[in-house]
Amino acid sequence: MRILVTGGAGYIGSHTVRQLLAGGHDVTVYDNLDAGHKRAVPAERLVVGDLRDIDHLDNLLVVNRIEAVVHFAAFAAVGESVTNPAKYYTNNLLYSLHLLDRCRRNGIGKFVFSSTCAIYGEPDQVPITESTPQRPVNPYGNTKLAFERALADYASAYPFGYCALRYFNAAGAAADGTIGEDHTPETHLIPIVIQAATGKRPHVEIFGTDYPTPDGTCVRDYVHVDDLASAHVLALAQLTPGAKLAYNVGIGRGYSVREVIRTVEEVTGMKVPVKEGPRRAGDPPSLVAGADKIRAELGWAPKYDNLKAIIESAWRWHKAHPAGYEGE
Ligand code: UFG
Repeated sequence: MRILVTGGAGYIGSHTVRQLLAGGHDVTVYDNLDAGHKRAVPAERLVVGDLRDIDHLDNLLVVNRIEAVVHFAAFAAVGESVTNPAKYYTNNLLYSLHLLDRCRRNGIGKFVFSSTCAIYGEPDQVPITESTPQRPVNPYGNTKLAFERALADYASAYPFGYCALRYFNAAGAAADGTIGEDHTPETHLIPIVIQAATGKRPHVEIFGTDYPTPDGTCVRDYVHVDDLASAHVLALAQLTPGAKLAYNVGIGRGYSVREVIRTVEEVTGMKVPVKEGPRRAGDPPSLVAGADKIRAELGWAPKYDNLKAIIESAWRWHKAHPAGYEGE
């Protein structure tokens, strides 16, 4: 298939691009390199451009005779979305709607969308299934849910099929350690704990120790980035006109912040300096995926089904690239 991948030089995008290429697809990566990295994708596949430049995108759709779009390009910092919602509504919703409509006008009938468990907000119970009420608690989640709704309406009215993949906590790196997680600033727990272990930061602060969880710290479902990537490959193969697919993607098991810290210590053999701090606004106590639907319908199964294996792969990347992509 001829596939356009927006945000394909980013963390989840680049791992997906690698799998699509390995599967024989003809991939065009469209990325403004704001959060993406040039070195994360083969140079000959990369077109540097912004989502807001819809004519540039439209031209690519036509000239490259694109048959499917995998849309990652988005801002994804929950806290920033609260203080700067305009940035999120403009990029994650407005520009994304432009892209969607150009797909329609150009007869492109397959669309895979990066969604998030943030669309469920603070659920009353875990595990979270696809029928858990969708009540986002921040602008980031609102923009993702709004776009999912547009996708559903398009699929009802036009010869168009989509799959929204609702990621839980993406983590880890490619098995060979050549591509991995590199955000500036880094806000995600696993890379932060690894940086604290290696002395790149003085300590990790635990955001809240009084949650109603077994050890008082937040519980998350960490899912390996290559397993997220394979979900996109499987979804693309499944899409037909009118398909309205939406799946949670997680391993179905939660780990606390303290368990993450202990596992990083075990994997690296290093001590992690820890400081206990107050809760971070907007963090639900526990987010764990009920991911039976994607297993049953797409035949997806995570290759990395436990935290230790996920952290081992993250550690291989961080060891080989202590300064991320810039250090090369
Ligand atoms: N945490 C700490 N200290 C840190 C960083 C994180 O204790 O320095 C804790 C957080 O409070 C949270 C857990 O570690 O309980 C995981 O935090 P992350 O920031 O790594 O991930 P989040 O669960 O907050 O966010 C992820 C994605 C978002 C997505 C969200 C859905 O990064 O894009 O899940 O809730 F929207």
